[in-house]
Amino acid sequence: MSLENKKIFVTNALPYANGPIHIGHMVGYIQADIWSRFLRMQGHDVVFVCASDAHGTPIMLSAEDLGVEPEELALEYTRQHENDFKDFHVSFDNYHTTHSNENESLVREIYGKLKENDCIRTEVIEQAYDEQEGMFLPDRYVRGTCPKCNAADQYGDNCEKCGATYKPTDLIDPVSVLSGKAPSLKESEHYFMKLGMFESMLSEWIETIDIHSSVNSKLKEWFEVGLRDWDISRDDPYFGFLIPGEEKKYFYVWLDAPIGYFASLKNLSDNSDLKFEDYIHNDSNTHMVHFIGKDIIYFHALFWPAVLDGAGLKKPDAIYVNGFLTVNGEKMSKSRGTFIKARTYLDHLDPEYLRYYFAYKSSSGIDDFDLDTADFENRINADLIGKWINIASRSSKFIREHFDNHLSKDIDEDLMKTFDLKADEIKAHYQNREFGQSMRKIMLLADKANQYLDQEKPWIMIKSEKEKENVQRVCTNALNIFVKLSIMLKPVMPDVANNVESFMNLSDLDWSNISDVIKNHKIKNYESLLYRINEEDIERIIKK
Ligand code: 2FM
Ligand code: ZN
Repeated sequence: MSLENKKIFVTNALPYANGPIHIGHMVGYIQADIWSRFLRMQGHDVVFVCASDAHGTPIMLSAEDLGVEPEELALEYTRQHENDFKDFHVSFDNYHTTHSNENESLVREIYGKLKENDCIRTEVIEQAYDEQEGMFLPDRYVRGTCPKCNAADQYGDNCEKCGATYKPTDLIDPVSVLSGKAPSLKESEHYFMKLGMFESMLSEWIETIDIHSSVNSKLKEWFEVGLRDWDISRDDPYFGFLIPGEEKKYFYVWLDAPIGYFASLKNLSDNSDLKFEDYIHNDSNTHMVHFIGKDIIYFHALFWPAVLDGAGLKKPDAIYVNGFLTVNGEKMSKSRGTFIKARTYLDHLDPEYLRYYFAYKSSSGIDDFDLDTADFENRINADLIGKWINIASRSSKFIREHFDNHLSKDIDEDLMKTFDLKADEIKAHYQNREFGQSMRKIMLLADKANQYLDQEKPWIMIKSEKEKENVQRVCTNALNIFVKLSIMLKPVMPDVANNVESFMNLSDLDWSNISDVIKNHKIKNYESLLYRINEEDIERIIKK
């Protein structure tokens, strides 16, 4: 799929604004950010947005518990998340919220089109109702005994023991999580999106987009079972947007959440030169990409494109799915000390270490991956400090001490070419989101650069006056290679790369600068670009 001359619109799944984000969340955001930064460095026109997912029952109940309005709680978490992302160097062009005017008008507009196109129907359904709390209960708020295997204390939608799926009304001895009382059954009219109408369109469309083969297979299984109409309404009390013409019925959070991608773009367009209308129509010259976690495939690959299609809007061109993060082989859990908030990490360690580690572990597939803390420490110290940064610290020392920070007038162009020739391979891996492959190849190049210094031995040559010029040349070569590798690592480690630029007296390096020759040029004094991690730093995070 060619991205040439396309406007690229990248989104990340919108985090719920009802709790802190943890480093597991960061996997998808960092992957999308690396990809976006890489494409920008290639000269592509990229707009990368996100927002908070503000609506729904859990946030309404958390706000109630805290005695605040849900709007207030959502705003608080929206700001908090925005800061976490910024401090992890995630380069969103905009961070908005689904609880916004832009989103409400877009939701109304899209819903209007869906109605006009006969994609909506209503039906009276029976649901679990908590009489004491005066509210209908989402599936997860009812627990009871599994009707299939009799396991006690299971959720209302599926059994963790035997994997059976069912309705909360099928549970044996169900109780409301809120009041502890047995729920009653109550009828209410709901709005449904007629998903069946879209089945053949979706099964054809899925073959045209960029999506991992394992996700494609999963979707085919769902098509085989058949798509059931989708309930898009919720009864009062609910925190969300009212359905037009209703006073006590709201749109389900999952209807307005993906529309939030557009709302964030709209909000950006209102504050910049970007033209919103260029992005959302069927004939737009846009490439629309969603980065999501593997738990929300159904919403993005079935519901969302059906909504867009029903409203006559452009559907996504790619859906990139990431797996989950485990820490030291375990699911993240508070009791095991493996639940690490994004902010806790940031309080102790450089965000670019984690960006590198996640890149190193990433592929285009959807497998889970592990943050093994010993491996993390070793990977950072061995690769980043021991290989990459080492090239600069070893060679700049001679340039400063003996040549007043001046690079030589000529360099070994043939040697440079051997490095430049590898750039295309690394570029292709980035483009395909095989970041682990890119990182491994870059580190092999760093090994080669260090071997070059080991062979040339500037520390011996410098002892002889007649070899002095050669020392300048060798170290200039090494620093040129160092810059090339820094450009290759820039999508992953943008801050360190900026510091490299400043140390080398260069600016705004893009991918095309990889083959530049830097000679007869004055650099600055080398100051440490990255520090080794020690075990205590990691232990402090786990303890916290
Ligand atoms: O699963 C989640 O965390 C959702 N808040 C993701 C929403 S993505 C998009 F559709 F808004
Ligand atoms: Zn069961």
